[in-house]
Amino acid sequence: MTDLLLKNATLPDGRTGLDIAVTSGKITAIEPGIPGDAGTAIDCSGYLVSPPFIDAHFHMDATLSLGMPRMNQSGTLLEGIALWGELKPQLTVEAMVERALRYCDLAVSRGLLAIRSHVDVSDPTLRTAEAMLEVQRLVKPYIDLQLVAFPQDGYLRSPGAVDLLNRSLDMGLNIVGGIPHFERTMAEGTQSVELLCRIAADRGLPVDMHCDESDDPMSRHIETLAQQTVRFGLQGRVAGSHLTSMHSMDNYYVSKLIALMAEADIQVISNPLINITLQGRHDTYPKRRGLTRVPELMAAGLNVSFGHDCVMDPWYSMGSGDMLEVAGMGLHVAQMTSRKAIRQAFDAVTINPARALGLPDYGIAVGNPADMVLLQARNTIEALRLRPTRLAVIKAGKVIAQSAPQISTLSLNGRPDAVNSADYAPQTKNKTGKETR
Ligand code: FE2
Repeated sequence: MTDLLLKNATLPDGRTGLDIAVTSGKITAIEPGIPGDAGTAIDCSGYLVSPPFIDAHFHMDATLSLGMPRMNQSGTLLEGIALWGELKPQLTVEAMVERALRYCDLAVSRGLLAIRSHVDVSDPTLRTAEAMLEVQRLVKPYIDLQLVAFPQDGYLRSPGAVDLLNRSLDMGLNIVGGIPHFERTMAEGTQSVELLCRIAADRGLPVDMHCDESDDPMSRHIETLAQQTVRFGLQGRVAGSHLTSMHSMDNYYVSKLIALMAEADIQVISNPLINITLQGRHDTYPKRRGLTRVPELMAAGLNVSFGHDCVMDPWYSMGSGDMLEVAGMGLHVAQMTSRKAIRQAFDAVTINPARALGLPDYGIAVGNPADMVLLQARNTIEALRLRPTRLAVIKAGKVIAQSAPQISTLSLNGRPDAVNSADYAPQTKNKTGKETR
């Protein structure tokens, strides 16, 4: 007996008119016209069924703390770090758990079912780690929450950080973080990368560092991170988050650097909402965008993901838990406007972070867990354009969030379901059959 049957779905790869059958939490068939009764049947009306969204970079311990104890006046990364430092002594495990769970409810409603969160382990109480491990346990049936041991105040710069990072890994955080551009000197930044990669190699853990989150073109810790990745045999298991200094680097140097990163199979994680608001703050005009070189990195074969980074915290007062907002900003800032590039932006919040986070059995395929999102959009490009309603969010074959479709009751064009111009099919091929922009 089929537990759940999705009728007439379109998949991100463009296949359409498909039914998806689910039994005991797994996808058992994907084909047109699957007959038979199901416990629950959903008519997808040709709309897009995507695997869940994934956020490759977030700060769950700080989320929804906006205004505590005050607002960030300058809007800079450094005032955000100082402000978070003021807030840390006031944090309680209970309040952090409560805020994080509120965020997770929002995330589920947006179809966001896997999140990698950096956890600040600079405070000797390690309350942040305790709280986030509790959140990880509580949301496990719905959200795959990965936790990075993140030395926010510097691994070598902050007294006690070496011991605290090790203790937090002993507690159960299982990804090694870092922040080399925040160490006192370039030399200490380099040293921190080496020491942290060694810990990861010794413990058999992945690495995900805040790396070169700076407009300084001489912030080149990603070079060391790539080198140490190869040295310790960590290829494919090391992520460089932000990498904003690459925006400002000399082009000739970057041409060498990207090849080094590809050799190390560095997982690139860019955070467009945060980078476009925090970077370039010391510029007058023109102001740099500050986003890392996303299209060029993708073209070189690197796996690039987009992260949300912050939602209503000391660094960012906006944010919605919607990875389509994140990808939408990414495609604008990186000028990824060709049809192919827009689809790549969708991949950067779905299949790319699944690889970066090492999520097994991800994607809509027979035998995989039935984790899916039904969107009120006809394809991935329309999803990015409209940030559409999540009509249903499905986890292990169970509908865990639902929203009513967006419709106009006026029906000015006589098509009550056409409020999102869903039937608009742009001409994407020119006379030569080549895809147009
Ligand atoms: Fe971050």
